[in-house]
Amino acid sequence: MIVLGIETTCDETACSVVRSGREILSNVISSQIGLHKAYGGVYPELASRSHVDTLIPIIDLSLKEACITKDDVDLIAVSRAPGLIGSIAIGLNAAKALSMSWEIPFVGVNHVEAHIYAAMMGLEKLPTFPALGVVLSGGHTFIVKIHDLGKYTLLSTTVDDAIGEAFDKVASLLDLPYPGGPEIEALAEKGSISKFPFKSGYVKEHPLYFSFSGIKTNVLYALKGPNSTRNSPNLILEEDKPHIAASFQHAVFMDVITKTLQAAELHGCNEVFLGGGVTQSRTLRQLFAEKSPSHIKLHYPQAGLSLDNGAMIAGLGYHVFQEKKVSDSLDLEALPRLPL
Ligand code: KG4
Ligand code: ZN
Repeated sequence: MIVLGIETTCDETACSVVRSGREILSNVISSQIGLHKAYGGVYPELASRSHVDTLIPIIDLSLKEACITKDDVDLIAVSRAPGLIGSIAIGLNAAKALSMSWEIPFVGVNHVEAHIYAAMMGLEKLPTFPALGVVLSGGHTFIVKIHDLGKYTLLSTTVDDAIGEAFDKVASLLDLPYPGGPEIEALAEKGSISKFPFKSGYVKEHPLYFSFSGIKTNVLYALKGPNSTRNSPNLILEEDKPHIAASFQHAVFMDVITKTLQAAELHGCNEVFLGGGVTQSRTLRQLFAEKSPSHIKLHYPQAGLSLDNGAMIAGLGYHVFQEKKVSDSLDLEALPRLPL
């Protein structure tokens, strides 16, 4: 079965052709980073407009790169939640229109679930469940127990900022460009992890949950003094910035690693599937490998599948369709949030 995957939940217009859930024939990603850089984050209205301009050419290119025509496509899979509602609507409506005109079914999939599935795409067959899923991205922070594809129990999320968002905001405080994660990682290489005693948040009622707003304020005060605001002048020396980046990054990653390993232990999961833009970080992967006991197996997405992409949507869409066997209805709505 050949599936065309469409992804437009945030600032990437992405389309991919995937055979039978895992063989990637093309994976085309058009990033809008340049468009949003000036705003230090994603500007939703600009994102939607850009998807309108870019989506059809990207679909064409994904078919061309896969060396197929529209007649070879059996199914369309599209992200229908969660994300920026205007942006999702562009991809979803395109999927519905193509489904009608090509006379093939379409299915809407959960973008967060697809980030977890991305780490399974390199495997010969689906893993044995239960397993743990961890999504660390610009908009999402989740730890879930995976009972099966489509069946999850939420174990942890953030009570404030998403992890990637915290990286982007701290990068902006350090005068680094958007997206901030890779910039902080590069700067941190020249810094010490122990110069600033930052600590990631603890959520009393839910010990596995995350909170990143406190550590963000710690960084602000370290840079500009107690009770300062975003626009206050910097007090620290330029050469201290790498230490701030390294201490912040280490504290956040250790928090993620500790809570993930606790969740794995508590729920008897030996395999962990990680996805989302933050899992691109070499520092995170190295630290995770160092801290994990030998019975825990960590799985990451292949190159090009950590950030938003259409391949994970097409891949998951294949399994969703195997299960439900019918097209979604043309009434299917785009949703900004969707519980797993
Ligand atoms: O998965 P993604 O495209 O976003 C959503 O679907 O929401 O991930 C983008 C996020 C950005 O916040 C970016 O700063 C972060 O991933 N990121 C990183 C790294 N590379 C990307 N964060 C920390 N370290 C990195 N090396
Ligand atoms: Zn994403």
